[in-house]
Amino acid sequence: MKNRLNVEDYIRTIPDFPHQGIMFRDVTTLFNDPRGFRMAIDLLLHPYAGLQIDRVVGLEARGFILGGAIAHQLSTGFVPIRKKGKLPWRTIAQDYVLEYGEATVEIHEDAIQPGEQVLIVDDLLATGGTAEAGIKLVERLGGNILGCAFVVDLPDLGGRRRLEGLGVDVHALCSFE
Ligand code: PRP
Ligand code: ADE
Repeated sequence: MKNRLNVEDYIRTIPDFPHQGIMFRDVTTLFNDPRGFRMAIDLLLHPYAGLQIDRVVGLEARGFILGGAIAHQLSTGFVPIRKKGKLPWRTIAQDYVLEYGEATVEIHEDAIQPGEQVLIVDDLLATGGTAEAGIKLVERLGGNILGCAFVVDLPDLGGRRRLEGLGVDVHALCSFE
């Protein structure tokens, strides 16, 4: 049986969640589908085939699901970047602004070694604030960002421009206007 669906066909859109006016792109329906999930992992990795990746960094929360699967596929280590107060060891922190709100993310201070090649993964790129905070944390630990990979890009919110302006390569599987 042929699978004719694209990644975006597996993503559910929920209007007005979590706030009025937000069109929430729900990737749990992609993760829930065996073909959809495998396709997403394979496509996220495609541009990096043959390149050295020392660590996969996942952004809380859905970046953990994608990043864990990618790290397993590459036989690399996985590093979580978490919302403030969740990581148990010594951390460094970075504040950022979201499409709806403000937050702080943290990484364990010993999670990345200087010079390591790092792939950052998340489900969705909106304003780019979360990913930029992740990039800064990795770079503060001396890691080199090989790229940032997302399932969804929301181009109207300018995240790609923002990250590319930092000199970071951005890879996204689909976009929603
Ligand atoms: C969502 C999404 C990204 C971020 C993108 O996470 O999963 O991490 O927003 O937005 P940005 O590009 O404007 O920073 P959210 O902050 O809702 O947290 P959660 O994954 O813990 O629900
Ligand atoms: N994070 C920020 N904006 C989002 C959106 N529109 N859908 C899902 N996650 C988001």
